[in-house]
Amino acid sequence: MPARVITVAQQKGGAGKTTLVAQLAAHWASQQRRVALIDIDPQESLTQWYRVRSKANGGEDHIDLRWVSGWRTGTEADRLKNDFDLILIDSPPHTETGAKAAVRAAELVLVPMQLSPMDLWATKPTIKMIRDERRDMMLVLNRVPARGLLADEMRAAIDGEQLAVAEAALGNRTVYAASLLKGKGVTEVAPRSAAAEEVARLADEIDQHLAIDRHPSLDDRPSVDRRLAKG
Ligand SMILES: Nc1ncnc2c1ncn2[C@@H]1O[C@H](COP(=O)(O)OP(=O)(O)OP(=O)(O)O)[C@@H](O)[C@H]1O
Ligand SMILES: [Mg+2]
Repeated sequence: MPARVITVAQQKGGAGKTTLVAQLAAHWASQQRRVALIDIDPQESLTQWYRVRSKANGGEDHIDLRWVSGWRTGTEADRLKNDFDLILIDSPPHTETGAKAAVRAAELVLVPMQLSPMDLWATKPTIKMIRDERRDMMLVLNRVPARGLLADEMRAAIDGEQLAVAEAALGNRTVYAASLLKGKGVTEVAPRSAAAEEVARLADEIDQHLAIDRHPSLDDRPSVDRRLAKG
């Protein structure tokens, strides 16, 4: 089965694109799935994370990474499709062309967004671009405060925009950055943390959205009736 291709895009800078890519990749790798990362951001943040990671694990990893220019994203994703289960593309802020190529290469686009009116307004050009490219999209709320009126009001405002919003959201937690500093994800450094739980819930939701069945063997179980008859 060829790899499923997911792009993380958001033209607003600092929304959490690279954090999301690295955290999801680390989580999926911990499930023994082969993850290819494509970094097309000239800032190379994801590439830096991967360098630290490679140094720490001596190259033994379920994750591989390539940095390419934005216009080469589609070709690179096609080239990697048969060797990986998932391809995650981290795109740059501000530039339209690179991000557009990354969106075009994907079947699902995740759009991280922080919970403020300014962030919602600044996300609109990204949403329009993804819609123009006719790609499936999911908004992922990031740095969500534990509770409060703002979160509820923002969710209502987003509802008004008729956007698909992931039920799972990432809280505002220092462990996200702390784990990246070590070239890891929260799943790896703090598997029992609330952050790891958030990433796992989001990853499962994405699997479900893409109808990735990770447990085909479950379909082979005898039906309840047959088991009862045997018992
Ligand atoms: N859930 C979170 N909790 C706490 N800090 C976060 C969270 N998500 C992101 N950050 C912090 O916000 C900053 C921006 O995050 P990140 O670099 O992932 O965003 P980006 O969208 O990739 O930025 P750019 O547009 O520059 O590529 C970083 O300092 C990161 O550690
Ligand atoms: Mg980034």
